[in-house]
Amino acid sequence: MTLARVGSPVRPSRAPRPSTVTLKVAMAVTGVIFVGFVFIHMIGNLKIYGGPESLDSYARWLREVGQPLIPRMGVLWSLRVLLVVSLVIHVAAAIALWWRGRKARGPHRRRHLRGFTAVSARTMLLGGVLILAFVIVHLLDLTIGAGAAPAGYRPPDPDGTIHAYANLVASFSRPWMALFYAGTMLVIAVHIIHGWRTVLQDIGITGRRLRTVWISIGVALAIGIVLGNAAIPVLVLAGVIA
Ligand code: HEM
Repeated sequence: MTLARVGSPVRPSRAPRPSTVTLKVAMAVTGVIFVGFVFIHMIGNLKIYGGPESLDSYARWLREVGQPLIPRMGVLWSLRVLLVVSLVIHVAAAIALWWRGRKARGPHRRRHLRGFTAVSARTMLLGGVLILAFVIVHLLDLTIGAGAAPAGYRPPDPDGTIHAYANLVASFSRPWMALFYAGTMLVIAVHIIHGWRTVLQDIGITGRRLRTVWISIGVALAIGIVLGNAAIPVLVLAGVIA
C-alpha cells in the first residue's frame, strides 16, 4: 500500500516572465509610437504635392534640423534608434504573446468573433509580418538605394542635396511597386484599427465614452494614413505626379 505524502510542499507553477501584462503594455506603447511616426511621416510625404524642391528640401531639413546645437543627422539618427528599439520590442512581445496564447488555448480553439473584428484580430500576426517586409523593401527602395531600388536611383550628392522626389517617381513608375505600396497601406490601416482598439484594454482603462473617443481617433488616423499615403503611388502611376 502506498501512503499519500501528507504535508509535502505544493510547488506553485512559475509565472512567466516578463508578465503578460508587461508584454501587452510594451506592445501598446511601441504601437502608439509607430502610429505617431507613420502619421507624421504621411504628413511629410504630402510635400510631394509641392514638387521636387518641396520634398527634397524637406528630406534635407530632416538631416540638418537642430544644427548647430545637434550634429548633422543627429535628430534623424535618434528617430531611427527609437524606431528600431520600438520595432524589436513590438515584434518580440507579439511573438511571446502569440506563443503563450497558443499554449494556453491549444491551436484549435478560437474566440468567437464576427465581421471586421474577426478579420482584423486573426490577421494581426500576418499583417505585422507583411508590414515588416514592407519596411525592409521601402528602406532598400528609397533610403538605401539597393535591391528593390529603381534603376537610376540617385544617392545624395556630396553637397547634401537629396533626390527624394526623383527616386520616389522612379520607384512608383513600376506598377507592381506602386500597387505593393498602396496595398500595404490598407494592411497597415487594418492593423492600426485593431491594435489601437486593444490599447485601452491592455493598459487596463475601461469606460465607455473614453473607449468610443479612443477608437474613433484610431479609425481617423488609419483612414488619414491610407488616403494620404496610398494616393501617392496611385497618382504617380496615373501620371499626375511626374
Ligand atoms: C506611400 C507611402 C509612403 C511613401 C510615399 C514614403 C516615402 C518615403 C521617402 C521618400 C523616404 C525617404 C526620405 C528621405 O530620404 O529623407 C522614406 C523613408 C522612410 N519611410 Fe516612408 N513612405 C511611405 C510609407 C511608409 C510607411 C507606412 C512606413 C512605416 C511603416 C515608412 C517608414 C519609413 C522609414 C523608417 C524611412 C527611413 C527614414 C530614415 O531613416 O531615413 N514609410 N519614406
